[in-house]
Amino acid sequence: MAQELRHRKRETIIILDFGGQYSMLIARRVREAKVYCELLPYDTPWEKIRRLSPNGIILTGGPASVYLEGAPRCDPALFGGGIPVLGICYGMQLLGMELGGRVEQGSRSEFGRTAFVLSDPDPLFSDACFEDESCRYGWMSHQDEVREVPPGFTVLARSENGTVAAMGDRARRLYGLQFHPEVYHTPGGMQILKRYLYDVCGCSPSWTPRDFIRSAVKQIRQAAGPEQRVVCALSGGVDSSVVAFLLDQALGERFVSIFVDHGLLRKGEARQVIDLFSRRLQGEFIHIDARDRFLNRLRGVTDPEAKRRIIGAEFIAVFWEKALSLGEIDFLAQGTIYPDVIESGSTTGAAVIKSHHNVGGLPEQHGFKLIEPLRELFKDEVRLVGKELGLPDSILKRQPFPGPGLAVRIIGEVTAEKLALLQEADAIFREEVERAGLAGGLWQFFAVLTGINVVGVKGDNRHYGPVVALRAVTSEDAMTADWARLPFDLLERVSTRITGEIPTLARIVYDITSKPPGTIEWE
Ligand code: XMP
Repeated sequence: MAQELRHRKRETIIILDFGGQYSMLIARRVREAKVYCELLPYDTPWEKIRRLSPNGIILTGGPASVYLEGAPRCDPALFGGGIPVLGICYGMQLLGMELGGRVEQGSRSEFGRTAFVLSDPDPLFSDACFEDESCRYGWMSHQDEVREVPPGFTVLARSENGTVAAMGDRARRLYGLQFHPEVYHTPGGMQILKRYLYDVCGCSPSWTPRDFIRSAVKQIRQAAGPEQRVVCALSGGVDSSVVAFLLDQALGERFVSIFVDHGLLRKGEARQVIDLFSRRLQGEFIHIDARDRFLNRLRGVTDPEAKRRIIGAEFIAVFWEKALSLGEIDFLAQGTIYPDVIESGSTTGAAVIKSHHNVGGLPEQHGFKLIEPLRELFKDEVRLVGKELGLPDSILKRQPFPGPGLAVRIIGEVTAEKLALLQEADAIFREEVERAGLAGGLWQFFAVLTGINVVGVKGDNRHYGPVVALRAVTSEDAMTADWARLPFDLLERVSTRITGEIPTLARIVYDITSKPPGTIEWE
């Protein structure tokens, strides 16, 4: 019994980041294999790594050459620590050099899809790799190569050009891959990673949303002790909603949430947030109707960056006015997620606040401590946790929405009338796209009030009114985007409905600009 109650140590993989473009992707893949992992700077001291008692270590790729002076190196003690190590690309070359092999610039570079030949059966390559020819391709991107593997190592695979594609020392559980198992273009890559995680490191696929919730709730309770209270700003977005549900589970009535309605949300969203959270949360849910306050501040403002600044500053002001009036609150909870932590260059565990996540300026200034329960999660993991916590799809599947809201979709000055027009047009567009079953394939789809008025004809009369642009894009990460080829009949329905149901609007256009050169938003 006591055995069962004891908290099981979480299996962990440490990924040391040498600056490769796929470092984050490796972390994603390890999590996909349901194993918890953390990305740390390459020079993290061995003592610190050891204290985390990882089940395995992965060394990422990187742009440097291991044999040049000043090339990034990890603490060499980790190779003798008895913990399995997998070096990928640069990581393999480092392993090769540090353990007594020879690394040189290759006579020819290998880039892209490269076939490899398995030369030695090994747990790293499941039978499938031997049986299925399509799995014997790796995505390469290197100029240097391991010419001689270190003592104790065996060559496990060679590329068709003869370079060492994989090497391993089974006794010491040290492995190197010259290709990138984490990328989509290495067909057997996920299998290889799983073999490393499960068979070499002895991990089990046990990192699940339920595990996460259990340990997050425990941590929140520990941090907040028996009496302290926590406040959080709710935006209706997925991150802050998941934070709220977690805190609700952990602290019940000691959790207070504040929803600042700035009036710049889409049609029906504010109502939805109020209905859901006021019903579901055990603690106090505070709704601040700040619509007039924001509109007043935005009066006469046309510059997009000025709008952003004003909205950000006003949000902070409204939030803190309320939070400080509550008395005896100790913590501020925020929805910072793992990519924010990594992007900020702080994978070391210190509290990080990215400006757009930071509702509070510096919470410490107000005597608040920070709780960031989602710091370890990637966006899709946040959604899985949210699903497990019972959040509705309307929040979990919500498309990305900019913090300044519709203010950056109204070109020119923001007024109550324009907001109402845009909300109506946007709602029609969203409704039709969803009804056509196309929402899931789109990154974002929305309407923009272009700030242009044009001539049209309504009935027998000349009509002069605003132009609405429809924008729908596909994207993986918002860095690049393509305009969506929506069916003409859908666009026709939307246009007919908008001009029919909102007579003020004169014309509907569809934006066919990709990013680059455009951006997703118009401002
Ligand atoms: P752009 O327009 O730069 O947008 O292609 C890329 C992604 O970022 C969102 N976006 C914002 N998000 N505050 C935010 O929180 C902003 O000021 C902001 N501007 C753009 C945009 O919706 C898209 O998903």
